[in-house]
Amino acid sequence: MIKATNLTKQYDNGFVAVDSLNLQVNKGDIYGFLGPNGAGKTTTIRMLNGLIEPSDGSVTIEGKEVKYENASVSKLIGVLPESHGYYNWMTGREYLKLFAELYGVDKKRVKSRVEEVLEWVGMAGKADILIGQYSRGMKQRIGIAKTIVHEPSIIFLDEPTLGLDPQGQKDIQSIITRLNQEQNVTVFITSHLLKEISEICNRIAIVKQGKLLEEGYLDELIKGYRLVLKNENPTLEDIFFSLTTDEVGGVSDVQSNKKGNKGTCIIP
Ligand SMILES: Nc1ncnc2c1ncn2[C@@H]1O[C@H](COP(=O)(O)OP(=O)(O)OP(=O)(O)O)[C@@H](O)[C@H]1O
Ligand SMILES: [Mg+2]
Repeated sequence: MIKATNLTKQYDNGFVAVDSLNLQVNKGDIYGFLGPNGAGKTTTIRMLNGLIEPSDGSVTIEGKEVKYENASVSKLIGVLPESHGYYNWMTGREYLKLFAELYGVDKKRVKSRVEEVLEWVGMAGKADILIGQYSRGMKQRIGIAKTIVHEPSIIFLDEPTLGLDPQGQKDIQSIITRLNQEQNVTVFITSHLLKEISEICNRIAIVKQGKLLEEGYLDELIKGYRLVLKNENPTLEDIFFSLTTDEVGGVSDVQSNKKGNKGTCIIP
């Protein structure tokens, strides 16, 4: 469904944010894309969506090549970016109507589709309030409604629960799961909340410094890491930390430091 081959992004300043990434997301997956801050997740999502141009490699979505600033896949996908501006002077309902029209929803369907997505995200009762007066959680819900208003088959959600309270996080997770189960929407999601990811995703990838460290079905990874981590029930958090934690301050650094600088060791 989504296939990235050798995907690479070197920014103009020479920094390689994504390095030869190969990914495959299958139909029906809720695919968690994980990594520490600066790992290259947002950069990857933007390349998968055709919003920035890869320096190398290619992306296909449902077999169609994603080209930079080309709308060829825009009807198939919905995107909730990491940070996005809302039109604060519009009501939620006006905002969704605008995007339904922009995304080419059939004119006769616009009104009913807007009502449907308002119900989906639990905002029907607040649809006539100005977005500028919404809380962060309400804005995220309207953002998700905008992402699905044109009935895309794949949605990309870049940290959709960032800054939400525990109830807000749960609500968004349940919207995502229902979209996947009831509407067959394939989901590509980034989040730093590993518990959230392990609850909703069937497949995950872990990246660091632009490189893919691990990828696979979560239940299989957990089985596979039992031996590696010498732990009968490793969690996603255990796997994540075992792969992404630097040795700084760990035994190896202290030892090497001792070797070079007698009497000092760096422990953060
Ligand atoms: N326009 C740019 N020019 C140069 N470097 C950039 C640019 N945009 C991002 N980067 C760098 O690329 C790296 C990856 O950034 P990216 O935003 O993709 O990370 P991320 O995994 O989404 O991080 P976070 O978890 O904090 O959202 C970072 O080191 C960042 O500073
Ligand atoms: Mg990011």
